[in-house]
Amino acid sequence: MKIPILLFAVGFAFSVQSCKKSMEARETSSTQTTIEKMYTPKEFDSTKFDAKIDSLIALMTLEEKIGMLHGNSMFATGGVERLGIPELKMADGPLGVREEISQDSWAPAGWDNDFATYYPAGGGLSATWNTDLAHTFGNSVGQETRARGKDMLLSPAINIIRTPFGGRTYEYFTEDPFLNKKMVVPFIVGLQNNDVMACLKHYAANNQETNRDFVDVQIDERTLREIYLPAFKAAVTEANAYSLMGAYNKFRGDYLCENDYMLNKVLRDEWGFKGIVVSDWAAVHTTVKTLENGLDVEMGTPKPFNEFFLAEALIAAAKEGKISEEEIDKHVKRVLRVLFQVKAIDGKDRVEGSLATEEHYQDAYDIASESVVLLKNEKNLLPLQLDGVKSIAVIGNNATKKNALGGFGAGVKTKREVTPLEGLKNKLPKSVSINYAEGYLERYDDKKKGKLGDITLNGPVTVDELDPEKLEEAIEAAKNSDMAIIFAGSNRDYETEASDRRSLDLPFGQEELIEKVLEVNPNTIVVMIAGAPFDINTIKEQSSTLVWSWFNGSEGGNALADVLLGTVNPSGKLPWTMPKTIEDSPAHATHSFPGDSTVAYIEGVFVGYRWFDSKDVEPLYPFGYGLSYTTFEFSDIQTDKETYDASDVIEISFTIKNTGAVDGKEVAQLYVSDPESYVEKAAQELKGFKKVLVKSGASKSVTIHLPVKELAYYNEVKKEWIVEAGAYILKVGSSSRGIQQEIQIKIN
Ligand code: BGC
Repeated sequence: MKIPILLFAVGFAFSVQSCKKSMEARETSSTQTTIEKMYTPKEFDSTKFDAKIDSLIALMTLEEKIGMLHGNSMFATGGVERLGIPELKMADGPLGVREEISQDSWAPAGWDNDFATYYPAGGGLSATWNTDLAHTFGNSVGQETRARGKDMLLSPAINIIRTPFGGRTYEYFTEDPFLNKKMVVPFIVGLQNNDVMACLKHYAANNQETNRDFVDVQIDERTLREIYLPAFKAAVTEANAYSLMGAYNKFRGDYLCENDYMLNKVLRDEWGFKGIVVSDWAAVHTTVKTLENGLDVEMGTPKPFNEFFLAEALIAAAKEGKISEEEIDKHVKRVLRVLFQVKAIDGKDRVEGSLATEEHYQDAYDIASESVVLLKNEKNLLPLQLDGVKSIAVIGNNATKKNALGGFGAGVKTKREVTPLEGLKNKLPKSVSINYAEGYLERYDDKKKGKLGDITLNGPVTVDELDPEKLEEAIEAAKNSDMAIIFAGSNRDYETEASDRRSLDLPFGQEELIEKVLEVNPNTIVVMIAGAPFDINTIKEQSSTLVWSWFNGSEGGNALADVLLGTVNPSGKLPWTMPKTIEDSPAHATHSFPGDSTVAYIEGVFVGYRWFDSKDVEPLYPFGYGLSYTTFEFSDIQTDKETYDASDVIEISFTIKNTGAVDGKEVAQLYVSDPESYVEKAAQELKGFKKVLVKSGASKSVTIHLPVKELAYYNEVKKEWIVEAGAYILKVGSSSRGIQQEIQIKIN
């Protein structure tokens, strides 16, 4: 029996509907049914190559073995040519396969055959809420990884977005562990099907750039398990990820690249990880400890490769008997195992792959076109009605800004990056003339900026005064056009690895620009291009029409133009909460960001919407939010039973009707509340979602399968996942704050 404690008031009316009586009745009442697709990973039989591996190891010298455990250049470890063991070749990263880097410096190698497809950044992918597109992304970039002759792609980056200030928010997927894991599994399956290794990063609890080189992260065990680890775990146990990158920071006192608990106990002993752990670049601090505590390969810069902790120092340690050769063999064996697994050794029919093909650009387009989030469309300015429109003012530096490269982090050298302005030029009828004005300048105060790559400095300092001439040009363009579109937001120089942001303010004077343009042309659409939340309170008030796009890949501009024109009906949903002010965000409300030498995540499991919903804080835009050019109505929620056992799978079905005039895709989101609980739980948690296409006027029956075990919380005392018995409320709707249907079930 659970003790009924009503922890938090949930802001919607609760009505329990009767349980589903007959499956047939439900199916005949609607036009089509959707169920989820499964992605099966390649088998990773960890013992398959053992005999061959043992015979190779028997032939290797100590030096040859150790050569395989550290970088011998910026992005490769040593091979053993005489035995046919190749180098293990790696490439960044999350936005596509990075250009070739020099052997011993960060300078580009200057090749002319390393142009790749630039894919939407993590935020864009997760905003699609489309697991098929995650698979498409993985498969497509996997092809490119092979075409570039690499064995490992340093991707995906899946740390939880704990604070909107995080410099790498654009690169990461989401604030929610369930969405995170559901996107990462198909991504990795798609990627690794191409005979390459995914390298999940950054394991783990690496949620800020500030002090990332040494900050000691303190997280209670329940929060670690429920929020920060699920995607890593699913990637290992459901997608058979072959490798993982140890993060820079410390966790409970030990660096993550020498953290026995995280690497040996959790990752290997509990999850059964059989792949390799690679360090983040220059994240290793010791020799014997790092190896014994679970790291396999040291990568980095900038000292000579023979001076790495796992290079000559390891040879010396072995010779002095400080570490056994058996321990070294264990790690070499792991490296050989993944090399065999991706057919880098003995690989007769290894995938050859292809680079920057039209198919891959199409993949990038498909992802981008489903990622755009329509935030506000009060006057129905969108989709653009072009009858009688002769001219459109296109305003803003972001109309032409490219983001494939930029900032400190890994980018992509690409031959194609369609900007928003180019997208509009491609897609608008020739009868419409475009009046472009830059509007604001991307300017930094170099004196206060710090050197790019100075880790953990506050983010770039921007110059926020508008240039009077640029402003005037923009006002004139807006005045003299039938309508205006402002492309605002940020870019990858401003949002960047190695520094967190210092505020949510829009940089470069954009707020003033938008206000002035709106004054002269009320038919103005504001399009934000950014990877992380900004303070857009005033813009939301002043502007009737607001769209959110991302650092959205090679085809970003075309996809965006198609959404604005209505060729594509927007279906993106925010993968994180947009707060009204930073103080409302959990890490900031609890004054636990960024810490100094230590950071304690004292908000616990209340990350993202879990905090806002439980504490009844109104966000500017909630998690899961996004409009369409049509409207959807949810009805007839039913479950296949009223009461379930712990091993059951709950089948939840409901109908979505497209009540508008155009076809559209809706993301049906399933949240679960546990109003009676021994432990403090969030007011609601995402536990299922499905993206469905519903034709105008039609209805579709949707079924979501929810394994009862997904309802478990982590009990720190018992060190177990526990599903509490009692009543749970299942809610479906179009966002975390757009719940339309609820039903109660019981767990025995
Ligand atoms: C980043 C990693 C990246 C590595 C190699 C590090 O600074 O944290 O994500 O893969 O550099 O470029």
